[in-house]
Amino acid sequence: MTNKLKSAEMMPGNIGLPLIGNTIDALSKQELFYWQQHQKYGNAFKVAMPGLFDRIACLIGPEANRFVLKDGVDKLSSRLGNKFLEPILTTDTVLRQDGAEHRTSRKLILPVFHQQAIAAYFDTIQSVVTEVMTDWGERGTIDLSAELHKLTLIIVVKIFLGSEKTSEIQQVSEWFTILVDSLNGVVKWDNPLTLHGRGQTARRKISDYVRQVIRERAARGDLEQSTDVLSLLLNTVDEDGNKFTETQVINQAIGFLFAGHDTTSSLMSWLLFELGNSPEWRQRLRDEQQQVMGNEPISITHLRQLPQMTNVIKEGERMYPPAFIICRMATADIEYAGYLIPAGWYVCIFTMLTHRLPEIYQKPDSFDPDRFAPIREEDQQQPYSLIGFGGGVHSCIGVELAKMEMKIILSTLLQKYDWTVTPTTEEIAPVRRPFTMQKQLKATFVPINPLHGGVPVGWGG
Ligand code: HEM
Repeated sequence: MTNKLKSAEMMPGNIGLPLIGNTIDALSKQELFYWQQHQKYGNAFKVAMPGLFDRIACLIGPEANRFVLKDGVDKLSSRLGNKFLEPILTTDTVLRQDGAEHRTSRKLILPVFHQQAIAAYFDTIQSVVTEVMTDWGERGTIDLSAELHKLTLIIVVKIFLGSEKTSEIQQVSEWFTILVDSLNGVVKWDNPLTLHGRGQTARRKISDYVRQVIRERAARGDLEQSTDVLSLLLNTVDEDGNKFTETQVINQAIGFLFAGHDTTSSLMSWLLFELGNSPEWRQRLRDEQQQVMGNEPISITHLRQLPQMTNVIKEGERMYPPAFIICRMATADIEYAGYLIPAGWYVCIFTMLTHRLPEIYQKPDSFDPDRFAPIREEDQQQPYSLIGFGGGVHSCIGVELAKMEMKIILSTLLQKYDWTVTPTTEEIAPVRRPFTMQKQLKATFVPINPLHGGVPVGWGG
């Protein structure tokens, strides 16, 4: 059987010039590059980025997703596949672990994402959202992606580090932004003159800050009984007696900040873009909200009764998945679709490309949340058709938290404002490079006057 397999080098794909490969195209065009390769070469193609990712087998579609996320998991390493995230995520963090080590960490962080714990974050998120959005109606046109980035970063710093003082939150947010930006640094030299070096300095400052928070609270005797995130991480012991060290707790917490803010703000930016361009869907969500909560303040119980909003968020996940690529590295030779992919190759799947396959989703470039409503349920025809939050052992552990946060943001906005976004869908859809293009989005919010039946103030109300 193995004799009939073709070498992965025989996969379709133009791997460019020696030493350069596809690096320039892939780094400059990002998602668009993979989209173009997919259009040319189909659902399995090869890409080369010498020195960075060397050889990549790019696999697209539900079967590929199932293979990489579930069936082939024993031979596909997340630690090695996500090595490019090393400046932020050490091998202590759950996303960069494999096998037994990963299972242990996942068990130890589970209490942080337990339903009860998530419900306890509701008030914090709600108060940050309300405060940050207070003046959105008075500021004219705002930079949507930057504002949402700021908002989601404050939320994760408050939830995961327990920071309360505004100056501390601002400081950690600044360090964290420098750290994330440093991923773009080509020269990986830990020196103040390089982007990477400045990122590492920021990372050490965040670590020192979290260590100091832990020690101050331990000195006050606060850590033992408390149920906030750092205490949960420090105190949880599994049935085999495993427990995180202080350094592991700090690294996991930094991992949560990373995994939990840009993802949420990116998806929110595109949701507000689609909704800003769709008066019909804004009205449908407002009608649903009115039915469920009337003019009461938003509560967690309300958020569980909003099926149309749930479908809107799923449609955002489908069209604009923030993690557009999921990477692993083969640790042994693997067989897929008639090819033998050797150990050492990267094997990547693509959320956005799967989500735009016309054989799964009707008119895949159209914003149509009803595709997830009963009877159609297009994502249910084949497992692993919707993977914006991953799947299998490494599936997003923050998914419920992220969905609650997005519902709080959306509900608050719908109650307080109406909005428009530029560029419009007509000008830029279908968007093939969400990651880069989100920075162009600008929004204008107009306060709604509840006394006038929700008509925006100044819009003829
Ligand atoms: C819209 C928001 C979010 C999206 C689209 C998203 C997406 C994803 C995806 C695709 C993965 C799988 C990565 C892989 O298999 O390589 C993942 C994993 C993960 N996510 Fe999220 N995420 C979101 C929000 C969050 C939040 C709020 C948290 C909270 C800390 C979080 C924590 C994590 C963690 C810890 C993992 C690694 C799990 C593991 O390796 O076992 N995510 N996420």
